[in-house]
Amino acid sequence: MSGLDDFVHKWVEGARDLTVLALHGTGGDENDLIPLVAQVAPGANVLSPRGNVSEMGMPRFFRRLAEGVFDVEDLIARTHELADFVGAAATEYSFDPARVVALGYSNGANIAGSMLFLHPGTLAGAALVRPMAPFKPGELPAGTAAPDLSDKRILVSAGERDPLIPAPSTDSLVEQLRAAGADVTDRRQRAGHELVAGDLDALSGWFESW
Ligand code: MLT
Repeated sequence: MSGLDDFVHKWVEGARDLTVLALHGTGGDENDLIPLVAQVAPGANVLSPRGNVSEMGMPRFFRRLAEGVFDVEDLIARTHELADFVGAAATEYSFDPARVVALGYSNGANIAGSMLFLHPGTLAGAALVRPMAPFKPGELPAGTAAPDLSDKRILVSAGERDPLIPAPSTDSLVEQLRAAGADVTDRRQRAGHELVAGDLDALSGWFESW
């Protein structure tokens, strides 16, 4: 059985009918993104799990075989586990499961992207900071229908000089999301992997529309 106890997590109750699923980057934890959410989506509830995979002590949301090379089988299994967790949390904390928006950074953005493809019903939208394409075309498990993302709004905020995230992979993600019908705001920052003021502006502006 998977559910609420599968993830160490923080829950911060807000005053709005909007829940931000905060997904940290490699080596982060459930505390990392809570101040960022408070800044860019004030008043929202925050559900912030810690990734269950440890890479030499660094928490992640799924295994990788090398930098930028994902263990796709593990990614798929962990995505299902995270979706189950969000469903269980909605019951436990009484939030509207139709008003959940992910804010993922790096590794967290990548599992949020995977969730859009495998469990589109879990997220109303997603802000993906420094994301890659979680799946190459043809890598989705056999039998997975191409998702209909025409009711999803998605922000991509990438770093033009990011040494960890190859631009073609971000481009492929944007293409795949748009091909599935999503409304994608594609922002490129003059930055590397680190968060910069342009990310905060992009996030604040995008979250205002929720
Ligand atoms: C990943 O493994 O998800 C990406 O390489 C981003 C990272 O965590 O460095």
